[in-house]
Amino acid sequence: MKHRSTYVFLSGVLIALGAGWAGFPYAIYESRPQPVDFSHKVHTGAGGMKCDDCHQLRPDGTFAGIPRLEKCAGCHAAAMGSTAEEKQFIDGYVTPKREVAWSVYARQPGNVYFPHGAHVKQAGLSCERCHGKHGQTETLRPYQEDRISGYSRDIWRGLTMGDCVACHEQHGIGQQGCLDCHK
Ligand code: HEC
Ligand code: HEC
Ligand code: HEC
Ligand code: HEC
Ligand code: HEC
Repeated sequence: MKHRSTYVFLSGVLIALGAGWAGFPYAIYESRPQPVDFSHKVHTGAGGMKCDDCHQLRPDGTFAGIPRLEKCAGCHAAAMGSTAEEKQFIDGYVTPKREVAWSVYARQPGNVYFPHGAHVKQAGLSCERCHGKHGQTETLRPYQEDRISGYSRDIWRGLTMGDCVACHEQHGIGQQGCLDCHK
């Protein structure tokens, strides 16, 4: 009898631990869908567009980031195809001239300074090195935010302070001051 209750107790503990581990990411991360399910593949695949048709470095070296609506409206003033996604995008954003509030997966905390030009132009790094295959994706996964810090979950997928410093060391960039990356 004694053994049996110990057994019941232990399996209870195991179940609780298992549920805790499985539930942990859902408890600390809040998910929200992107406002429009943009397909990179439609545009960069069959569409034949290049990354810098939409994501340029400006003449002053700063990075333009995600294109604004006027760039999309150049092609989508009227429907190019017959998909429901495109119609929703046109009716919800293009026609009413409403900017899309994209969430940026790689978004760093506000006190971090990250220059794309130094990495893409000077260092010649590929977009994939930091962003994986985002430029070929067909659908957008939900954006996940840490409920406590308010930071994007993606920072912990290869863009923490330790990751920045490790790559800088690999490239022989000497000791950096805190204010090289913090503002
Ligand atoms: C038609 C314009 C267009 C083209 C061409 C384009 N993009 Fe984008 N890109 C977007 C839009 C809109 C977003 C915001 C939605 C999203 O996250 O996909 C975005 C977001 C991104 C992001 C977001 C990163 C983040 O952390 O949120 C990356 C990385 C990216 N694009 C890479 C690429 C690469 C690489 C290519 C070339 C293979 C490319 N893009 C071509 C429009 C474009
Ligand atoms: C150079 C022209 C061009 C530009 C610029 C362009 N698109 Fe498109 N887009 C297309 C084409 C072509 C299709 C495919 C239409 C079809 O055959 O269904 C498409 C399809 C779409 C669709 C429906 C398919 C899908 O699931 O994504 C959406 C939504 C869309 N575009 C959003 C955008 C947004 C947002 C931008 C601006 C960041 C943009 N497009 C910029 C040409 C363009
Ligand atoms: C060395 C790593 C690295 C490389 C290489 C890189 N990125 Fe990024 N990218 C980042 C980081 C970090 C952020 C977030 C920046 C921030 O929050 O200030 C970001 C943000 C972005 C964003 C969102 C910008 C915004 O503020 O709205 C886009 C779009 C993007 N990257 C596209 C690209 C494209 C396209 C390339 C290749 C031409 C590229 N990135 C190369 C690390 C990188
Ligand atoms: C994959 C490697 C790699 C990663 C990851 C990386 N960097 Fe860099 N970074 C470089 C290289 C290489 C240079 C030097 C570029 C040059 O030749 O000027 C550089 C330069 C810089 C500079 C100096 C730019 C200037 O104007 O002199 C800053 C600031 C910087 N990185 C911030 C960051 C931050 C913040 C992160 C993390 C979010 C990061 N980097 C991640 C490789 C990387
Ligand atoms: C190569 C770029 C780089 C350098 C150099 C750097 N940091 Fe950071 N730091 C980051 C990035 C990126 C983050 C955000 C991601 C993270 O929390 O790991 C960060 C986050 C932090 C945080 C946590 C902030 C928060 O809001 O959670 C502290 C504290 C910090 N840095 C202090 C320092 C100090 C002190 C130095 C100088 C000794 C320094 N950093 C040098 C890139 C850098």
